[in-house]
Amino acid sequence: MRTVTLVPGDGIGPEITQSVTSILEAAGANIQWDTHDVGLSAFEKTKCLVPDSFVNSLRKTGVALKGPTTTPVGGGHRSINVSMRQMFQLYANVRPVKTIEGLDNKFSNVDMIIVRENSEDLYKGIEYKISDDIAQGIKLITAHASERISRHGFELAQRLGRKKVTAVHKANIMKFTDGLFLQSFEKVAKEFPNIESEDMIVDNCCMQMVTKPEQFDVVVTENLYGDILSDLAAGLIGGLGLASGANLGTEQAIFEAAHGSAPDISGRNLANPTALLTSAISMLEYLEDRDCADKIRKSLMKTLAKKQSRTRDLGGDLGTSEFTEALISNL
Ligand code: NAI
Repeated sequence: MRTVTLVPGDGIGPEITQSVTSILEAAGANIQWDTHDVGLSAFEKTKCLVPDSFVNSLRKTGVALKGPTTTPVGGGHRSINVSMRQMFQLYANVRPVKTIEGLDNKFSNVDMIIVRENSEDLYKGIEYKISDDIAQGIKLITAHASERISRHGFELAQRLGRKKVTAVHKANIMKFTDGLFLQSFEKVAKEFPNIESEDMIVDNCCMQMVTKPEQFDVVVTENLYGDILSDLAAGLIGGLGLASGANLGTEQAIFEAAHGSAPDISGRNLANPTALLTSAISMLEYLEDRDCADKIRKSLMKTLAKKQSRTRDLGGDLGTSEFTEALISNL
């Protein structure tokens, strides 16, 4: 039996983690959960956003499944996600985006993996007020982190038999920071002569993604561009309710959906648990329980194939709990 740290999170987090853990249990996953509050839910109970009990649990288990946590906009506390990624050196945020057959998609052939640098760039948190009217933020890019994420992208491509890796940047304008990112990518690309490499400026990449998304295979990019591009890409395959993610480091891994805590639908049995479920499927693969991962994936595809057994964000009528029951009955 493997112990995994579980964070229910804020907003829709508890509803979708409840759904996903019951699906994993029904599928026979050999997992016991060590559950910890993090974020607003933890703050209400302990006055601490990232309690030590969670940190110790993740250091011990090495793997967490995490529901979304709320971050106040424009003030309040710093993002818990950003803090956790830095605390555990989870330097790679890997977000697969693949068309799900049978859904009414605008594109039938999207199959890309966005590999986002997760530890630096403008998310380093180096920002301050110079005066009431002027604020400054610093974009930090290092060769070390840029080479590390590029290597992660190429190694992933090699492992999965992918053909091409695209670096996305804005080195035409930010010649030192994005220039360094691009140089680092090009240096690493030479180590993988069997994989095609190319680079693309981020604004052009946005246009290419919404017109010809099938051209992308593995995309390696900086933190801010990756954050935006991965939500954009999620829109190509049916929205945020479907977009999974993993934050990977050398010692720990946190699996979580790309979406946030969706306060607009929280507590109303409206959330689609699919993104957290596909993150959990990736987690099972990471834990080398492929049989269970395949079983759940097949059941998910079977459930999503019928319009009447989808949640409302995908045009169906089911609530979170009814969708969960339908999926379990398809296992
Ligand atoms: P959001 O992703 O929570 O919601 C955007 C839109 O997508 C909303 O209309 C929401 O109802 C819908 N949506 C999201 N997930 C859905 C699901 N599973 N099923 C059906 N519809 C879904 O983004 P928003 O509103 O910008 O952020 C809300 C909070 O989440 C903020 O505090 C933000 O900081 C936090 N957040 C947390 C993340 C994390 O913990 N990894 C990631 C992104 C945002």
